[in-house]
Formats: sequence, C-alpha cells, structure tokens
Amino acid sequence: MAIGERTASERIAAERERYVARGVATTPLVVARAAGARIWDVDGREYVDFAGGLGCQNTGHGFAAAAIHEQVDHYLHQCFMVGMYEPYVEVCKLLDEVWPGQSDTRSLLLNSGAEGIENAVKIARVATGRPAVIAFDHAFHGRTNLTMALTAKAIPYKDGFGPLAPEVYRAPAPYPYRGVTSDNAIEGLKQLFKQDVRPERVACIVLEPVQGEGGFIPMPDDFPRRLEEICEEHGILYVDDEVQSGAGRTGPVWAIEHYGVEPDLLVSGKSLGGGLPLAGVTGKVDVMDAVPPGGLGGTFGGNPLACAAAIAVLNEIRTDEFRARAEELGGRIRARLELHTGDGEVRGLGPMLALEFAERTPERASRVTAAARERGLVLLSCGMYGNVIRILVPLSIEDELLERGLGLLEEALGDADAA
Ligand SMILES: Cc1ncc(COP(=O)(O)O)c(C=O)c1O
Repeated sequence: MAIGERTASERIAAERERYVARGVATTPLVVARAAGARIWDVDGREYVDFAGGLGCQNTGHGFAAAAIHEQVDHYLHQCFMVGMYEPYVEVCKLLDEVWPGQSDTRSLLLNSGAEGIENAVKIARVATGRPAVIAFDHAFHGRTNLTMALTAKAIPYKDGFGPLAPEVYRAPAPYPYRGVTSDNAIEGLKQLFKQDVRPERVACIVLEPVQGEGGFIPMPDDFPRRLEEICEEHGILYVDDEVQSGAGRTGPVWAIEHYGVEPDLLVSGKSLGGGLPLAGVTGKVDVMDAVPPGGLGGTFGGNPLACAAAIAVLNEIRTDEFRARAEELGGRIRARLELHTGDGEVRGLGPMLALEFAERTPERASRVTAAARERGLVLLSCGMYGNVIRILVPLSIEDELLERGLGLLEEALGDADAA
C-alpha cells in the first residue's frame, strides 16, 4: 500500500463518520466475512470471535445459511397475517417442544428482543387486567419506549429520551459480588409492594435468569423459585427474558432450566434466528389466548427466512450433543478466566461467562477489549460500570480456535495492566 493510502477499514470508517448517526456506537472493526467463530475484516485480517454479533451466533456464523438459501427460492415475505406459511407454525411448534415446563404453549413471532418484551407485557396486561410491570436492578430489556423504561441504565440508554412509559417499577436484584443477596432482593420487592404498588395491581415481573448487559449476573439458585412463589401468591405473571441467555447460551435451551422454574411467558431472540432478526413470545395457552385476534402481530414478524433459520437453530440447540459441548466449553473458559480473577469475580452459567473487575470504572475493560482487537480477538464489555468482560463465543468453536482466543484474551489482559 502506498504511503498515505487508506486501508479499506479506514475508508469505510470515514464514510461511517460522515453518513451514520453518531448515536449508534461502533468499534473500528469493519467485517467482510464470517464463518463459525472466525471473522475477517475488509483488509483480510482474521479475528477469533468472542462476541457472536452480540450473542446472536450461538450456533456459529453461517450455521443456518443452507436453510436460508433453501427458503430464498420459495418466497421471502408474505406477512403471516396475509398468507400463513409453515415455517412460522413450525417454529412455534418447536418452541412448544422445548418449553421449560409441562404446560401447553402458543407462540407469537416478532422482529427483535425489545418487540418481544413489549408484546409479553401487552399480553400480561390483557391476561391479568392489571397495568403495572416490575423490572429489576441491572436489567436490560431493549431500547423502545416501554423496554427503555424497563432497562436499568440511564446513560446511554434512557437519558433525554423520556417521557418513559408509565407503570414500570423497579425492584432490587441479587448481586452477591456487590453484597446484594436473594434475601435482600426479596425484602426489597416486598417493600416495593408496600411503598409503590400493591401486588394486586401488578401484571407481570420481567427478569433475565442471567442478566446480560447488566454484567452477566446469574440469579442465585433460590431466587427465581422464590419469585415464582410470590407471583403465584399474588396472581402476577412471570416473564422470563431469555433474549441473551437463551437459545443454548448457558447449555440447556433456556437458562431458566437451571432453576426448575416454569415461567408464564418466555421471550426469545438474538441467536434464535441464527443471525436473522427473529424474536418469540411463548406462553401458557390461557395467557396467550387472552388477547383476541388482531391484537398481536406486525408486518415482518416471523419472516420466512428467519423462521427457516430458527428451525435449523432450534433443532441443533435442543440436542444432547450441543448441550454437552456447551458445558464442556463453559468449564474450559471458566478455568482460564479464573486464573485472572485478581480482586474481581468470574461468574456465569455454563459458557455464558464474564470477568468483572473490582473497580467501578470502565477504563480497564475498555483497554482489554481494545487490546484484544489489536491482537485479533473480538471481545465485548458490559455491566452497569462498563467494568465486565463478557464472552459470547459461538458454541460451535473448535478446540484449537478456542485455545487461540483464550490465549489472545490473556495477552490482552496483560496489555491492559501494562498500559
Ligand atoms: C436480555 C435482553 N432483552 C432484550 C434485549 C433487546 O433485544 P433487541 O436488541 O433484539 O431489541 C436484549 C438485547 O441485548 C437483551 O440482552
């Protein structure tokens, strides 16, 4: 390359600066191609992918490509409300088969996780005839008006975007590393019922079994069950947000399976569509059917290509082999991360793992993700203070590539400490 000539990445980044809204935060990575757990940038550089397009590639880049190609030749879009098609029905059938409980279910398909959560709340309100919704500390449920209100981080997600949706209340969530136990959280919820909203006015609670953007905080073993009991006592519906923790991310299809709790409504998204936009709301029949015909839907929800991908994904993640491999990967990643705990904490469920630094500032984690990128590893941070390194590696990764990625991560941790 001649002196002064720009790389393809630099050229596209400059055009991005000129034409793309500043509010969409980006890293310097400009992708040309991806396969499995590898990404190549537009300058031909290879990266190990520990981000999976923000948790959307549990089965690996390209996994559903053949199923999508096959569907492309039939039709791209119908709108399920205009002309039904079997792939939509098949996804709902598979979601019923992998439901974490004994109840019969029905499902609704949508375009994004946020849209899924919005619809779960709509359904819960109709089913209960109640207005209020309870979300938890460190929650992330999306960026639409209602889900923004449910999300627990002012900057950058909420600040200035109000007025936010009303009738949203927040309860403490367990966070043992920072001293909040299940007992504290249950106490806080009971106090909320006294101070702010009577339980008889609450339609649903919404909880991620492993909080994602909030810092990869797995709920303690007892918490979902205790919450379920409180919900049953007061006729409140339990909405399980599996957008990030589901679709095989923690080993079983849904993270709630670790807790033995059957939710009333379950929201799926991200990896469900194998890289195409797809979300689902699955719920007990009487809850789902509370909404009359026409009350739910949307133009693109359950797009045929996304459904074809989801059928392939669901049939893969429900297998014993997928789960066993995910658990094996989780064990290996955890063992390596634990070598670097220092004064921080390694935590997660299965291979949904993270390392939180003790300091409540984002600088160190930012240095690690930047150093990782320099070395050829795509890595993300998260957490209320931006001080958590999270791993969302495609679970199809081969041993040798995982070793390479973990080695790069260790080097990046060293770079960040040396800086
Ligand atoms: C737990 C959880 N719920 C909901 C959402 C919103 O999903 P989407 O970005 O597809 O709207 C996310 C996105 O990160 C999430 O992690």
